[in-house]
Amino acid sequence: MTTPKRFEDRVAVVTGGARGIGKAYCQGFAREGAAVAVADVLKDQAREVAEELNQNGARAIGIGVDVSDERSVDEMFQRIEAEFGHLDFLVNNAAIMLDVDVPFKPFWETSLAEWNRIMSVNVTGVFLCCRRAKPIMERRGGGRIVNISSDAIWKGYESQLAYFSSKGAVAVMTRSLARELGPFQINVNNVSPGYTLSEAVLHSPEMQSVRESVLKSCCIKRDQNPQDVVGAALFLCGPESACITGQSIVVNCGAIMP
Ligand SMILES: NC(=O)c1ccc[n+]([C@@H]2O[C@H](COP(=O)([O-])OP(=O)(O)OC[C@H]3O[C@@H](n4cnc5c(N)ncnc54)[C@H](O)[C@@H]3O)[C@@H](O)[C@H]2O)c1
Repeated sequence: MTTPKRFEDRVAVVTGGARGIGKAYCQGFAREGAAVAVADVLKDQAREVAEELNQNGARAIGIGVDVSDERSVDEMFQRIEAEFGHLDFLVNNAAIMLDVDVPFKPFWETSLAEWNRIMSVNVTGVFLCCRRAKPIMERRGGGRIVNISSDAIWKGYESQLAYFSSKGAVAVMTRSLARELGPFQINVNNVSPGYTLSEAVLHSPEMQSVRESVLKSCCIKRDQNPQDVVGAALFLCGPESACITGQSIVVNCGAIMP
């Protein structure tokens, strides 16, 4: 007789799940038996990830979504309900980190359009997804929301003001959402990764230029890979964390200790 997996009968949606750390979350939930909606603006890649998960025995769908667009978010949740009937876990991972024209520059050279674009995905996207997930989780009797912030919010960094401000907003939203959603048995926490070698980071000359200095600041002197962040998100969705809400787990080899 096989032991049931931890998240059997559970449904998870991971935004920004087509690559990088988001893809690793999808693989983690699938490994634990959850049905997974891989949601990303990169629609074809999201479908490919879902296909890979299905080939390994999981139940997954790939959904194209722009989390900054209300209608697109609405369609994503409709599709999840139609496909799986309910929702237990929402991981708000989608973000614009590096794919703006010049991501590292003084704030006074940042255009309003760049600022707004980052905020619309990284902050408004979290708002829209939480708002739409709430009634579905409520019908289920509860749920878990994991917002993805960054350890950088606890240390001032130059040259990415819009991105770091957006991640600070996500941490603040997490605490307020935890208060508002607690009465509905919905726990809201955030995972704050440090420097992690996702494809986006590996392909960015600017991010590669700080790799050595980040490593020097770490207690544990090793590279952090997407798979290293997954355990924290799974833990926050598990039965062992039922009384944890409004909190932040920093996964960063000890580089910054908030
Ligand atoms: N890699 C790091 O060093 C690091 C450090 C701290 C925090 N983070 C956070 O971890 C998360 C994942 O980062 P990553 O390194 O895997 O980067 P990534 O750029 O590979 O992941 C972001 C994902 O979000 C998707 N996305 C972007 N805009 C979207 C939109 N409008 N709608 C839907 N999906 C959209 C992208 O297509 C991509 O798949 C992000 O929230 C990032 O801010 C990463």
